[in-house]
Amino acid sequence: MPALTAPYPAARFRRARKSPAIRALMQENAVTVGDLIWPVFLTEGDGVEEPVPSMPGVVRYSVDRVVEAAKAAADLGIPAICLFPYTPLDKRTRDCAEAWNPENLTNRAIRAIKAARPELAVMTDVALDPYNIDGHDGFVVDGEVLNDETVEALVRQTLSQAEAGADIIGPSDMMDGRIGAMRGALESAGHHNVLILSYAAKYASAFYGPFRDAVGASGALQGDKKTYQMNAGNSDEALRLVTRDVGEGADWVMVKPGMPYLDICSRVKRELQVPTFAYQVSGEYAMIRAAAQNGWIDGDKAMAESLLCFKRAGCDGILTYFAPDMARLLA
Ligand code: PBG
Repeated sequence: MPALTAPYPAARFRRARKSPAIRALMQENAVTVGDLIWPVFLTEGDGVEEPVPSMPGVVRYSVDRVVEAAKAAADLGIPAICLFPYTPLDKRTRDCAEAWNPENLTNRAIRAIKAARPELAVMTDVALDPYNIDGHDGFVVDGEVLNDETVEALVRQTLSQAEAGADIIGPSDMMDGRIGAMRGALESAGHHNVLILSYAAKYASAFYGPFRDAVGASGALQGDKKTYQMNAGNSDEALRLVTRDVGEGADWVMVKPGMPYLDICSRVKRELQVPTFAYQVSGEYAMIRAAAQNGWIDGDKAMAESLLCFKRAGCDGILTYFAPDMARLLA
């Protein structure tokens, strides 16, 4: 493309930055509250709001309290909330049966939130790590994370969440073939309108540390997740995974983590034109919060800038622990 610009001084780029009014007219991308999905953590009990030390400002909610939090989010105009359970240790087993218990924390929270605020979309996490004794997303036998056996369990977990009323299913496990299996099971069970937001390009990342604390999986985790999550050095592979997952029936796809992977968001959106979401993960949130608490950066400005950059990269939406703070800033 030819450079459509005149030589200086006919072209002065600073003209278009001269005032807030001119800058507003010139702005190409913006964050709206409709872009935000708010991830929240669940815990057993009543009236509980338990701080997560590695995520300042984030708490684990008991079911009664997450309903209040969900109402507040809906009142702010946030379209969706995403649930992650801290499963009690005595309910974590080798067979992960709690994952598809209709009365597990997630399923009780889905029903309570949908009863209180039917218009708020509820997203869930599909993976075995909150239920597993070893912190892995799938069944482990002799040190190997089994693929096909895990997919069968993920399908059961998916159906129990759809049955409870989940709007969006979010498989974060990175097993092969799970999207097709889940989509087939949802169709057979009559859940035609349940969306699948596939964690398609999910990288093996150091930025998940605080999340693993929040769901109580960090102490348990044996080794790493590199046999199923992606290598941070890869980019073409992300496009193959997105293509594969959409082909198997994913409605939307996710890139995760977010800020260090904006190039991936951009390639997915521009080369494949699929609805693209990014997950600004726990470690990204913790970095911004920690620096702000130390007075090293302006927390609100860094939050707003980080979220705007996802839009510039082409994302249609962002999962972020900042969702309520950002929604209040936009209000
Ligand atoms: C696991 C899962 C993880 C996150 C969401 N689902 C962690 C992992 O893969 O170990 C991370 C989210 C975050 O860091 O905010 N199924």
